[in-house]
Amino acid sequence: MSYVIGIDVGTSGTKGLLVSESGRVARTATVEYGVSTPRPGWAEQDPDDWWKASAEVIKRLLADSGARGAEVVGVGLTGQMHSSVFLDGNDGVIRPALLWCDQRVSGEVEYITEKIGFDRLVTLTNNRALTGFTAPKVLWLKNSEPQNYGRLKSLLLAKDYIRFKLTGEKATDVSDASGMLLFDVAGREWSRETLDLLEIDASILARVYESSQICGRVSKEAALAAGLEPGTPVVAGAGDQAAGAIGNGVVREGPVLITVGTSGVVFAASEKPVMDPLARIHSFCHASPGLWHAMGVMLSAGGSTRWLRDLFRQAGSDIDYPDMGAAAEEVPPRCEGLTFLPYLTGERTPHFDPEARGVFSGLSLGSGVGHLTRAVMEGVAYGLKDSVNLMAESGLRMDEVYLSGGGAKSALWSAVISSVLGLPIKRLSVDEGPAFGAAILALVGTGAFSSAAEAAEATLSIRDEIEPDPDWVNAYEAGHERFAALYEALKDKFAI
Ligand code: XUL
Repeated sequence: MSYVIGIDVGTSGTKGLLVSESGRVARTATVEYGVSTPRPGWAEQDPDDWWKASAEVIKRLLADSGARGAEVVGVGLTGQMHSSVFLDGNDGVIRPALLWCDQRVSGEVEYITEKIGFDRLVTLTNNRALTGFTAPKVLWLKNSEPQNYGRLKSLLLAKDYIRFKLTGEKATDVSDASGMLLFDVAGREWSRETLDLLEIDASILARVYESSQICGRVSKEAALAAGLEPGTPVVAGAGDQAAGAIGNGVVREGPVLITVGTSGVVFAASEKPVMDPLARIHSFCHASPGLWHAMGVMLSAGGSTRWLRDLFRQAGSDIDYPDMGAAAEEVPPRCEGLTFLPYLTGERTPHFDPEARGVFSGLSLGSGVGHLTRAVMEGVAYGLKDSVNLMAESGLRMDEVYLSGGGAKSALWSAVISSVLGLPIKRLSVDEGPAFGAAILALVGTGAFSSAAEAAEATLSIRDEIEPDPDWVNAYEAGHERFAALYEALKDKFAI
């Protein structure tokens, strides 16, 4: 039997999938880890924890399934985007990686925008500077830790560090490179002009490949550590959002994918690079040659429900998501006036506001677990609608909506999202997230399928379809207006 392995180096853990040549998921394994926040707004992880977790996940997949290392014919990688691995001249990790949700680099974001000029930056990279992106993290290292910057010889993204540990190759793919703000998204190559203007040495960057290209082979040392066969090919892979889209069949113009994980993402593919002069949505390469994608990113979607659950638990409750969902079902749409702004870690789309914060407005003595839970679900859905509206304004096709991620497991949350958007939503039968997309890229790279589109055709099936409820749609139109007005009223009041 032949298999491939897909690895997703996520924020809360690393997930692996063992997938057969036909695209059937044979085993999954996950190893969790934490995020360190040395100061408010900072978010860091040790890249070597990612490597330990990845090696452990691969070993578990093999042990639990009884498959031999030699039966694994390819590995595909994906992971959290933007997160900066800084390596020295001996390829040692210089300091913990700054993550995609780290907000410390606002000064560097302003500097980049002023130095290059907003319009020129958008022309060069298709995007505006944001705190989540990688280039400002490099400048932060230069400004705040000059000794560490002096030692910097290589800059890698999360999944690319795992590739480096597996194969010794420093490589990345077009979709993940797009999120660094150092990449010419339209031309699918590094932007020399941006690098020159920011005085970042091009030699620190990895080689760029299309996502299904093989760009390294498992070394003897890594084979021993992870239980694979030396020489096993590793394909370039993709950033987690592009890989998730591949795994969910968004491999052509038409379908839109909404993923409610820690972050909340609205994603659409396009046959041309998406060029919004105001760069209100992210414009990146897709993980399939000749395709690009646009996306809107909320920073705390599932992250908001997790925060609420953990808060109840800190107070001594053993409540979990199903109990919260059951309580929320008892509460009418709009929660009797309770509105939640889900900006616990600032917000990207549509506000680009690292200082924004979460708000419950309209609390009363009658507000219980159900009200708070439903208000969080509704607040996240309103935020997703903001991104959907921007994508529609940018002319992206949105013929049908797929919903994935942890949030899609909740029937109520899925129904709320459908009614807030006023659109039917399809949930897929296999929702293994980005790791499945990474495995598909490995299947394409090793020849089991000719393209991601062919693989999607062979592996996808729709589990169910949720229709918007006309009464809820009306209520949520007014709710969305209130939500937008609340942010407008409060946006100058968040700074401490
Ligand atoms: C995408 C982004 C997040 C992370 C989450 O731009 O920042 O979705 O990739 O893992």
